[in-house]
Amino acid sequence: MKLRGKTCLVTGANSGIGKITAIELAKQKARVVMLCRNEEKAEKARQEIYKVSGNTDIHIILCDLSSQQQIHDAADEYRRRFTSLDILINNAGIIAGNERLETADGFELTFAVNHLAPFTLTLLLLDLLRHSEAGRIITVSSEAHRFARFDMEDLQLKHHPYSGLNAYCISKLCNIWFTRQLAALTSRSKLSVNCLHPGFVASNFGNSASAAFKALLILSQPFAISNEKGAATTLYLAGSEAPEHISGHYFKDKKIKKPSKAALNDAYAEELWEKSAALTRLELHKVSLS
Ligand SMILES: NC(=O)c1ccc[n+]([C@@H]2O[C@H](COP(=O)([O-])OP(=O)(O)OC[C@H]3O[C@@H](n4cnc5c(N)ncnc54)[C@H](OP(=O)(O)O)[C@@H]3O)[C@@H](O)[C@H]2O)c1
Repeated sequence: MKLRGKTCLVTGANSGIGKITAIELAKQKARVVMLCRNEEKAEKARQEIYKVSGNTDIHIILCDLSSQQQIHDAADEYRRRFTSLDILINNAGIIAGNERLETADGFELTFAVNHLAPFTLTLLLLDLLRHSEAGRIITVSSEAHRFARFDMEDLQLKHHPYSGLNAYCISKLCNIWFTRQLAALTSRSKLSVNCLHPGFVASNFGNSASAAFKALLILSQPFAISNEKGAATTLYLAGSEAPEHISGHYFKDKKIKKPSKAALNDAYAEELWEKSAALTRLELHKVSLS
């Protein structure tokens, strides 16, 4: 798909992989809508994107993705300001420390930001994506999904020992289940729904992680790739290089990669879908999928 004139919404576009993604989309003359939680950081990034790309069609929607209400407000704002959406990039993500934190909605923080937020935002904007001639939904997952220790009855680790790292691994597994289930449900539409691992990237990622994890990240920095390389697979899936109508896959280095056995379990994917719908109280019967 040619990106010129397309409208792209990128979450977490003020930093790391998301900012480079936004810059490259802007360079290719797409309209870029940055969904960010911090106004100052978002505005600073927008100025940088203007400067580097020469494209001024860059917009900000403020939203803290840990709040379901703010996601609903952001989707409403999107509809007031824009009439179309071609590419949604669910990029924002966190890894938390080892203290289990809950959002104002009562959800475990990592599960809320990394999984429930993309679930809600995508479904609230799905009709716009479906009206695009070739709508694309891209979610940034991680190879970390392979290390998830999970119990489907306790994905928010309320009744199991909590670690920020395991919560992160579970949330990235959820990204793949979400992608596969949404792709299955929209298989009769023109939508492409895929997810990816960006590589181990030298971004701001891990700032809120435990001290031990941060130390590990610092030690591993020599092996990390740049944000530019980290954004490559996202941009591949957004752009014309990627084959059209490929949906429901997990990508790494611009190629389809087989995810873990658990990630390929359709019953888990369906169960997550049902649980997420119940938790977010989305009126899914009103969402047209095909
Ligand atoms: N870096 C890696 O090695 C790596 C590896 C595998 C997967 N990933 C995935 O890549 C994605 C991008 O991460 P990154 O490496 O670019 O890290 P990053 O530089 O920390 O960027 C994360 C972005 O998410 C935003 N964000 C976090 N919590 C948010 C919230 N509650 N509401 C709205 N925005 C929020 C951050 O905003 P603030 O700036 O305001 O905090 C930031 O813009 C994540 O999904 C991550 O899981 C990264």
